[in-house]
Amino acid sequence: MKFESPPREHGLERVRQLWTLWRNEPSDPGPFYSLMATEAAAQLDVEVGPLAGQRIADLGCGPGFYSRSLRDAGAEVVPIDNSLGELSLQGEPPPGFVLADASDLPFPDRSFDGVFCSNLLEHTPNSPDVLTEITRVLKTGGWGYLSWTNWYSPWGGHDIAPYHFLGVRVGPRVYQMLHGPPAKNVVGKTLWPVHIGQTLRLLERDDAIEVTRVEPRYWPQFRFIMRIPGLRELLSWNCVVYFRKR
Ligand SMILES: C[S@@+](CC[C@H](N)C(=O)[O-])C[C@H]1O[C@@H](n2cnc3c(N)ncnc32)[C@H](O)[C@@H]1O
Repeated sequence: MKFESPPREHGLERVRQLWTLWRNEPSDPGPFYSLMATEAAAQLDVEVGPLAGQRIADLGCGPGFYSRSLRDAGAEVVPIDNSLGELSLQGEPPPGFVLADASDLPFPDRSFDGVFCSNLLEHTPNSPDVLTEITRVLKTGGWGYLSWTNWYSPWGGHDIAPYHFLGVRVGPRVYQMLHGPPAKNVVGKTLWPVHIGQTLRLLERDDAIEVTRVEPRYWPQFRFIMRIPGLRELLSWNCVVYFRKR
């Protein structure tokens, strides 16, 4: 089966498209996540595909937009999340879901061809353990896709942005004083700072892993940013790391 890549807007039109969908995301998440998911599956099909026939774990799958797109590309997908509430955000949880913690996966070693993990890391207190589990369940030669909103991104604090720039203690307090409690993503309860440099060092220290590419998720053409410590934390918005299990 040939998996067709969706047509993609470019330049200012692309910026406008993403900004409009993202602004509407709180009330209408479907269009934003469906676009992200189809594009991610199409890109993975080129980079690490064909996806058809591959067994892929979708870690922190939420309501399953990415699981659906990876399945549309012919992959056998196991949607995994530790929250029934998040799995059910769009109605029925994705078929075949597994309720499990990404830092303690109920799967044997080397059981997946690929692990797709989008925007989970910053929502768990123990992201290093999640990385260890991803490595463990990947087959030799298997691929990992890891993406998260890094803390010093303009959106790092999620609901409390930009007050997160005041730090994990002061930022939430100032936000709460001025705006009341955040609707979602409470720092220290469901949101933790995850930095690009720190995460890359963890991955690079692991001999079982080879990092093959690092890029800003929404503007990959500016990949060079990721070679500049400090600046990358501020400018990438969301970081993507591709890696292989040796
Ligand atoms: C922001 S959502 C991301 C959903 C989807 N992957 C995406 O990129 O749109 C984060 C998801 O990760 C899940 N999650 C957070 N910590 C987790 C953990 N330790 N194990 C499994 N799932 C976790 C949450 O329940 C939530 O569904």
